[in-house]
Amino acid sequence: MIEIKIKSQEKNYPIVIENEAITDLREKVFANLESYLVVISAKVEKLYGKQLNIPKNRKFVLKDGEKEKNFTNYRKILEQALKLKLTRKSTIVAIGGGVVGDLAGFCASTYMRGIDFIQVPTTLLACVDSSVGGKTAIDTSFGKNLIGTFYQPKAVYINPRFLKTLDERQFKTGLGEVIKYSFIEKSCMCDEELNLTNFLSTEDIHDEKVLAKLIEICIKLKKSVVEKDEKESGLRRILNFGHTYGHAIEKITNYKKFTHGEAVVEGMRFAFELALKKNLIDKNYKFLADDIMKKFDFRQIPKYKIEKMIELMLMDKKSDGKTITFILPTDYSTVEAFDLVL
Ligand code: GLY
Repeated sequence: MIEIKIKSQEKNYPIVIENEAITDLREKVFANLESYLVVISAKVEKLYGKQLNIPKNRKFVLKDGEKEKNFTNYRKILEQALKLKLTRKSTIVAIGGGVVGDLAGFCASTYMRGIDFIQVPTTLLACVDSSVGGKTAIDTSFGKNLIGTFYQPKAVYINPRFLKTLDERQFKTGLGEVIKYSFIEKSCMCDEELNLTNFLSTEDIHDEKVLAKLIEICIKLKKSVVEKDEKESGLRRILNFGHTYGHAIEKITNYKKFTHGEAVVEGMRFAFELALKKNLIDKNYKFLADDIMKKFDFRQIPKYKIEKMIELMLMDKKSDGKTITFILPTDYSTVEAFDLVL
């Protein structure tokens, strides 16, 4: 068992990583809860519902897909919580990927001005990124994550066994974020030298034990960043490496054609090209980065018209409408933020 403690202004919380039976996880999560509501992904419910054995009236099964992270489901979950008479001492538990965690976290942060929230991430992306750091949100027709809160969970329980049933494409979308950590590692200013790039090139990342270690490394890097800048006023922006262009790809394809991780990988490729053009890095580093991304054989994304991409990037919530903030590589595993006019 690995336990990582995250410090935050609001509360400190543990992240527990353990390969164990799904039935054991049930004990860990629910044993001491007074009353609760579980928001669970439909896919996870189908695969693990029997083992988790959650009473029917205590679970809200969320269909899969980003489009479910919406106002309607937000309202429905809160109405179910009200019907169950959840109190300020109750808990909302999220079991699923990033969509489930973001939506359930937003519900927990607003129900009775905030009740306990436990995360059980079941995708690689949620394990290494979205379940850590307290971002919660829903999407609207105006854009993704425009309504949300910073709200820390009471605990995060990670069981890498859930990842065994992820299809390869879903696994790879998480790997996109993992590779991101390898390109930003030094900038995360972690006390420990974790050398993720080396780990990725030498280990068989599908092995259960290796996966647990991989998740631990990513969480330690994210911990280092979010503890220094919880509300994203500076350092935390580095976690958006690859995301500026990546978000534009997701928008131009209506969030349908490519997964988040695939779009982020293409965004990182774009960032490396831009950094080379601006002489921030040398060719050798660009080739090395390309090799790492090629190794995992991500889906090819076509080059969209740059004028259209710039227009979309200027509309991003992180842009001021004139300049675009890019996180660009400046050295091996090192990135910096640049406000650019393209
Ligand atoms: N996923 C980026 C962040 O947590 O800031």
